[in-house]
Amino acid sequence: MSTAETIAVEDAHMPPFFAKTPISIERGEGVWVWDEDGRRYLDLTAGWGVTSIGHAHPVIVRALAEQAARIIQNPDAGLTYSPARSRLLDLLAGLLPPGLTRVFFTNSGAEANDAAAKLARKATGRTEVIAAEGSFHGRTISMVSATGQARHRDRFRPLMPGYRFVPYGDEYAIVDALDDQVAAVILEPVQGEGGVNVPPPFYIARVAELCRANGTLLIVDEVQTGFCRTGPMFATRGTRANVDFLTMAKGIAGGFPLGAFAMTDDVAERLEAGDHGGTYCGNPLACAVAEAVIRYLVDEDIATRVDALGTLALARLISWRDRYPGVVTAVRGAGLLLFVELASEEMAAAVAAECLDRGVFVRQTAGTGIRVFPALTITHEELSMGLVVLEECIAEVAAG
Ligand SMILES: Cc1ncc(COP(=O)(O)O)c(C=O)c1O
Repeated sequence: MSTAETIAVEDAHMPPFFAKTPISIERGEGVWVWDEDGRRYLDLTAGWGVTSIGHAHPVIVRALAEQAARIIQNPDAGLTYSPARSRLLDLLAGLLPPGLTRVFFTNSGAEANDAAAKLARKATGRTEVIAAEGSFHGRTISMVSATGQARHRDRFRPLMPGYRFVPYGDEYAIVDALDDQVAAVILEPVQGEGGVNVPPPFYIARVAELCRANGTLLIVDEVQTGFCRTGPMFATRGTRANVDFLTMAKGIAGGFPLGAFAMTDDVAERLEAGDHGGTYCGNPLACAVAEAVIRYLVDEDIATRVDALGTLALARLISWRDRYPGVVTAVRGAGLLLFVELASEEMAAAVAAECLDRGVFVRQTAGTGIRVFPALTITHEELSMGLVVLEECIAEVAAG
């Protein structure tokens, strides 16, 4: 097939949910991808923050092949035990924030959040869930209901009842919103899809204290921030907050579909057989790949590199704010989750298109922004090259 044929077939046979970038990616290696016509692009999207250790990493290829040759399907939903799953659980137990001792696997981030919200209701006997404005928690009907962005919610009304919203980063809004009907508060440690919003220090820890005092469970959605995206293995670890649920997906298995939610013993004791499940949940193939990816993150000390690269990159982004006034309106970031806000959606689209022309693949986020969230294994040279091109494109758009 040619690029034109691939695009024609996808456009003819898929529903129109996304405005796709008109390239057809045929293979990838590290932070590079190639389209069907053999053109190479530097991928600063990492398959939407997923390919944490790069495309086609040998560690992933080996784990996939070895586990596929043994057994693929044997879920944690009620059948038998699995050594692949057990190894992953053991590894996660040493990495999750303290107190999060019980883990169940899912197939996506939305599913993990959905389950956490559902189980929080069961565990507390309460019905209400508080989420933040600007949040994104997934695309199931309950997670659309928990997502604080009108463009993801309004067209699907009526939504699930019981979800309320407060401004993100404001602990006093949580104080006002908590009452004896609130089962859970769900928050991202850094909002990703909402435009990489970094809350004030101690926000999550304060909310955790408030929740505890109110008998409310705190769910931290680490689907985007987990597995070293912002530096530490989990952003929550750095906040020192005692949380009740932590949800994961994206980077957990470097691109193989997998999600998970962790909870405390205290929550688990309030749950019982039949409360949750899923046909593919915790299948040994996904678990083996996740184990390999997470071991690589730990062994190669990816957290330290992300910290160092992220600090350098953010400093560079900050200089753009002064250099392109009226064009770059804000920059934000944590680790390798970076965001450049432009003055309009049109400017953001023009910058993304210009980058693509120059062989750098970025996408618009939250309308006016460009998010940079490459594989965490990106080298200093590769990241610099990407940022040089991004700046050139911003300069071009600024020049009209
Ligand atoms: C913070 C957060 N939560 C949940 C999700 C949904 O995850 P998934 O697409 O795997 O369902 C996303 C996806 O972007 C996310 O960023």
